[in-house]
Amino acid sequence: MNYQQVYDKLEKSGQLHVLKYYEELTQEEKEALLAQVETLDFSMTASCKHKEELNQKGEITPLSAMQLNEIAERKEEFMSAGIDAIRAGKVGAVLLAGGMGTRLGSDAPKGVYNIGLTKEVFIFQRLIENLLDVVRQADAWIHLFVMTSDKNHEATVNFFREKDYFGYKPEYITFFMQEMAPATDYEGRVYMEAKDKISTSPNGNGGWFSSMMKWGVVDKIHEAGIEWLNVFAVDNVLQRIADPCFVGATILTDSDVGAKVVRKNAPDERIGVICLEDGRPSIVEYYELTEELMNARDENGEPAYSFGVILNYLFREKALEEIVAKKLPLHIVEKKIPCLNEAGELIRPEEPNGYKYEQLVLDMIHELDSCLPYEVERNYEFAPIKNKTGIDSVESARVLCQENGIEL
Ligand code: UTP
Repeated sequence: MNYQQVYDKLEKSGQLHVLKYYEELTQEEKEALLAQVETLDFSMTASCKHKEELNQKGEITPLSAMQLNEIAERKEEFMSAGIDAIRAGKVGAVLLAGGMGTRLGSDAPKGVYNIGLTKEVFIFQRLIENLLDVVRQADAWIHLFVMTSDKNHEATVNFFREKDYFGYKPEYITFFMQEMAPATDYEGRVYMEAKDKISTSPNGNGGWFSSMMKWGVVDKIHEAGIEWLNVFAVDNVLQRIADPCFVGATILTDSDVGAKVVRKNAPDERIGVICLEDGRPSIVEYYELTEELMNARDENGEPAYSFGVILNYLFREKALEEIVAKKLPLHIVEKKIPCLNEAGELIRPEEPNGYKYEQLVLDMIHELDSCLPYEVERNYEFAPIKNKTGIDSVESARVLCQENGIEL
């Protein structure tokens, strides 16, 4: 895009202030700014003015999960179908590692965080070790796709290289980057983080499949004959990846997606709940769960919405291709955004000062026709690290790792 085209794009979206310092910039900086404007989509920034109208939920009704006892009864059947699919190369894994991990308070990618006590145990290492368990069990390598963002791509790729991929075969690991979204003030005006740079943040974990398409990673998936993608979060250090039993259960129930769920530990636990929305599978975030739903009972008198998702989904790849063109809902989140002040100096606010714009993987579930909620034992499979201390923290994850016999 040349200057005039950039000017027109910014004018159309009410963002002309981006060019405030243009004349002061060096030639190289000018080009960088024009290139950044070209890649960014500003259309979502206007949505913050009618934020309350976004993401209105339909009618919520319960969706039953396949529970531990049923899984135990059919374990052999599921395991054998899962192992067959993995051996045939039909299963790939997708690590979502593009987030900023701001709550953990480190600028480095979350996966390089060392949770070890007497030795180094990095988050990425824990995940690779878990995946290697399945590689050994199935006696077959599994393609791993790692999503990064503009903010952590290099650091992530270098870390894996430095650590020799923690024993994984490098030709089975593919890195790709997610898109960035502009960050704005409360009126939807984008912030600048430098005179030649708009403030941006990763656009949420919902864009992973479209980013795979943009990066040509989907071609690789087709070439390899992968039919199922197990998407998982970086921060759960007990995450079971490409779990053969889960793979088998999802395939044998002919579901478009399997979702690992845990029994909630309290009605108000801060975890998204699996349900039906207007008759289709869906997830209600904890902050959208009304008192009434929280305390609702099913026909057996059991809590009706007692299973929460842990960001571990097995998607049928073909189904993803069918929904990729659909627009997922936009989530507008209040955050502290470093930005230039009126005088052109960089400030790091102590309090939230604007919005980030995200799409979420959990909203993909509602686009699909069928979903298998698959219960897992939370103490064996769920140790998320969001904070340094307290709930869902490095501390709580360490305790759970030790309970599971993992040396730290
Ligand atoms: P979180 O919702 O915990 O966000 O991500 P975060 O950015 O890692 O952490 P905070 O909120 O800043 O503290 C859940 C999963 O989704 C990935 C994260 O890397 C994590 O695996 N994610 C999140 C992305 O891949 N991209 C994003 O834009 C956001």
